[in-house]
Amino acid sequence: MDKLIIRGGARLRGEVNISGAKNAALPVLCATLLAPGRHVLHNVPRLRDIDTTLELLTTLGAEVDRAGFEHDHSLAVNTAKLSSPRAPYELVKTMRASILVLGPLLARAGEAEVSLPGGCAIGARPVNLHLKGMEALGAEVKIEHGYIRAKAAALKGAEISFDVSTVTGTENVMMAAVKAEGRTVLTNAALEPEVVELAEALVKMGAKIKGQGTEVIEIEGVKELHPAEWTIMPDRIEAGTFLAAAAITGGELLLKGARADHLAAVITKLREAGVKIEEQEDGLRAQGDGLRAVDATTRTYPGFPTDMQAQIMALLCRAQGLSVITETVFENRFMHVQELQRMGANIKIQGRSAIVTGVPKLSGASVMATDLRASASLVLAGLVAEGTTEVLRIYHLDRGYEALEDKLRKVGANIERGKEAKP
Ligand code: EPZ
Repeated sequence: MDKLIIRGGARLRGEVNISGAKNAALPVLCATLLAPGRHVLHNVPRLRDIDTTLELLTTLGAEVDRAGFEHDHSLAVNTAKLSSPRAPYELVKTMRASILVLGPLLARAGEAEVSLPGGCAIGARPVNLHLKGMEALGAEVKIEHGYIRAKAAALKGAEISFDVSTVTGTENVMMAAVKAEGRTVLTNAALEPEVVELAEALVKMGAKIKGQGTEVIEIEGVKELHPAEWTIMPDRIEAGTFLAAAAITGGELLLKGARADHLAAVITKLREAGVKIEEQEDGLRAQGDGLRAVDATTRTYPGFPTDMQAQIMALLCRAQGLSVITETVFENRFMHVQELQRMGANIKIQGRSAIVTGVPKLSGASVMATDLRASASLVLAGLVAEGTTEVLRIYHLDRGYEALEDKLRKVGANIERGKEAKP
């Protein structure tokens, strides 16, 4: 297994190109199943989760053309043929977002067999609201032998209210509803930019959707959708992670392609902590200059994103004073705390809050990544720690960050990839 070896201390300086958004590319790729034919996608990030999604689409019968993908982040997916409505456990267990083929398969083939996603390090993460939505649209849904088995001769539009705001739940039901008979109204829908991106990609395929980006999304079912060409939006969480990297190292970075409008809550919080952030024509410029403590509470969009909680915690470990970080979206998203404590951080957990008291220095250590964003926080801590930090199990990181160590090295970080010692 790969690991990262980081020698801390360098102030990061220079430009970073922000990649396409993982959490937008995954649902848009699944949506191609709804419109038989050749779709062309641009600015697709090169990530393990993207590879898994392309493998899943191929398993379902799609043809993926990756020619050029290594150079220009573009690829084509031809979904003219659908040979199977089954998403196997082997793939779903590696990426729970595979659940996003459920809606498109039901709408396209009238049936779907999707392995139930298993447990997750950050929380229980049930999919009951996805299934409730499919049932409301008229599907018969059963759970058998670890699989969701859903059938519907014809989906019918319905009024669906989500008990809690769910990103992939909203996306999945929206994708099922675009070809349902009649009108569907989703209330308490998720507001995340990735949901808006999916809705707009579906509209480009011929869907009738309005209200995306608000709590009420209205969908008028259509008979057919057609293939489309689409460019994936920039990754706001990758951009947020690099804002934190500039801040924690006391450096200065220009994040090319980053969108300030998607990062309002993150920018506000980082400015509160003393980070200078400027919006520029081609992105965001961030400059770190001494950090002060702030409190942060994760919320659904447009609140402070849970996917930035671990990264801001690493940063606040080096800030002047005491910060309180409260996680309200997932019930078990403090796995990085013990690893940061191994590096000398002063963090106490009280219920759903972490009390972080800034320390004058962190020291390099061997630490273990437990999930995608936790691994990013350990890399950030390693960038400022004295001595050498080894981040193990970085397969978590490769799921959601494209060539992170190359991008960091380009702006001055002393970081390299190595192999973990065989047990
Ligand atoms: C999406 O996950 C993202 N993943 C996550 O990013 C992100 O952390 C999360 O939204 C919140 O912003 C993708 O987009 C692929 P939710 P999702 O359904 O859709 C509860 C990353 O690091 N819930 O919005 O799975 C759930 O348990 C990943 O890139 C139900 O109870 O999250 C949670 O407490 C990690 N029943 C809350 O809702 C359901 O059926 C929000 O989860 C669905 C969700």
